[in-house]
Amino acid sequence: MTHAQPVPTPAAPTVAAVVVLAAGQGTRMRSATPKVLHPLGGRSMLGHVLAAASPLAAGVTVVVVGAGREAVRDHLAQVAPEALPVVQEEQRGSGHAAAVALAAVPDLTGPVLLVNGDAPLLRQSTVVRLVDEHLRQGNALTVLTAEVEDPTGLGRIVRDADGSVRAIVEQRDATEEQRAIREINAGVYVGDAAAVRSALGRIDADNDQGELYFTDVLGLLVGDGARVGGVIAEDPDDVLGCNDRVELAARRRTLNDRVLDELMRSGVTVVDPLTTWVDVTVTVGRDAVLEPGTHLQGMTSVGDAAHVGPDTTLVDTEVGEGASVVRAHAVGARVGPQVSVGPFAYLRPGTDLGAGAKVGTFVETKNAQVGEGSKIPHLSYVGDVTIGRGTNIGAATVFVNYDGVAKHHTTIGDHARTGADNMFVAPVTVGDGAYTAAGSVITSDVPPGAMAVARAQQRNVAGWVRRRRPGSPAAQAAEAAENQAGAPREESSGPSRADHDS
Ligand code: UD1
Ligand code: CA
Repeated sequence: MTHAQPVPTPAAPTVAAVVVLAAGQGTRMRSATPKVLHPLGGRSMLGHVLAAASPLAAGVTVVVVGAGREAVRDHLAQVAPEALPVVQEEQRGSGHAAAVALAAVPDLTGPVLLVNGDAPLLRQSTVVRLVDEHLRQGNALTVLTAEVEDPTGLGRIVRDADGSVRAIVEQRDATEEQRAIREINAGVYVGDAAAVRSALGRIDADNDQGELYFTDVLGLLVGDGARVGGVIAEDPDDVLGCNDRVELAARRRTLNDRVLDELMRSGVTVVDPLTTWVDVTVTVGRDAVLEPGTHLQGMTSVGDAAHVGPDTTLVDTEVGEGASVVRAHAVGARVGPQVSVGPFAYLRPGTDLGAGAKVGTFVETKNAQVGEGSKIPHLSYVGDVTIGRGTNIGAATVFVNYDGVAKHHTTIGDHARTGADNMFVAPVTVGDGAYTAAGSVITSDVPPGAMAVARAQQRNVAGWVRRRRPGSPAAQAAEAAENQAGAPREESSGPSRADHDS
């Protein structure tokens, strides 16, 4: 099994606090949803940032919220209930946001990680390296940087002749020469709480945007004669922000490529990485095969040597070893080892398929416990059902679970054989080893070993076609068959009125 973000070893350094700046509007997303809540790879942008910082085991995690604060708070309560949301009433800049955060934890001392909320590709290893370097060099502030092809719009890292970091200059405030610098500010910093506080108390809004920039903290600390450093990210992708939906799609693709690369290196076959999408929260076992058009989401896990796809979406679904899931959609299901699902199956929450079971073509299951080796091969709705082991469900079966008011349960025993085109009108129980006849509507319990027949008796109205459809191809065919067999031309059988129908 492999995880997209393994906790790095050896032990990560710790920080006193993590501060996530997430109050900005995200105007260019043009969205009713706050920017940091947009999902990619199975987590919100904010969720990725929190995950990247998680190895630091911070004493407190502060998230600065502003635009869309209710939604961000609700989301935090779900994904990081231990985090402390702090409201920045007015978005006066990243420096103001950091000051608001630190004001909420006045007793804090020691190293603090400050990170923009829109850095979804940030990796744990990168954050750990930044903090390690910061502590090793005994800096007051260390900034994560990257060398990029196109630095447009980003803060530039200004270094001395001897290479030491002197300042961060925003693009709009930069000189022509500074704009030519390709080393940029990632928006990820680790600083000593006291030093950062002191500098934040001195920043001003004397810049093109009239905002309080966190980036000015660096220059102020340099002026104080404090030690300041820069750590260049090994992979410039790590630091890419996300400001509009074009960038969101690009970040999503990069994240997916990383997940698939890691899966492939751990022994998973991904037939077509371009059409296979796997969330960072998913695990896939060795020698599993992911066919084109496979989407694995949420808490999905795929066992060793399982085969998934093509064209399959699994959400929060567990697939056992050696199982096969072909052209299927599954949500909240458990597929046991060696199970066969599809093609064209829909597994809904509460589906639990025992080892070696089969759910075939055009079958929908919901809250259905299917025992080992049992089969539902064709064209069926299987809702609110418990099926024993070794049982076969006939084609075109409906478990009639809903009376318009409440849902009811059906129980089928072990080694039962139910006929094709059955309706099981719940609540109803079919005993172990029982049979039901094709076309039956089962409304009462079937004892173990019994054969239930619940359908109208057939009767044949002889000669009906010749009388009612004379001269038709059907009548001619019937006549030919009768002549060949030398059969007598009976007028009628039984007291039926069916020949007067239609
Ligand atoms: C910022 C950096 C820039 C860096 C870039 C990396 C500043 C001044 N500039 O620019 O050097 O290259 O990130 O992506 O910091 N925020 C608040 N409250 C505010 C304003 C911003 O919480 O009042 C948050 C935003 O939600 C965002 C972060 O701070 O997560 C950065 O702010 P943003 O305005 O996006 O700065 P950038 O222009 O991206
Ligand atoms: Ca930004």
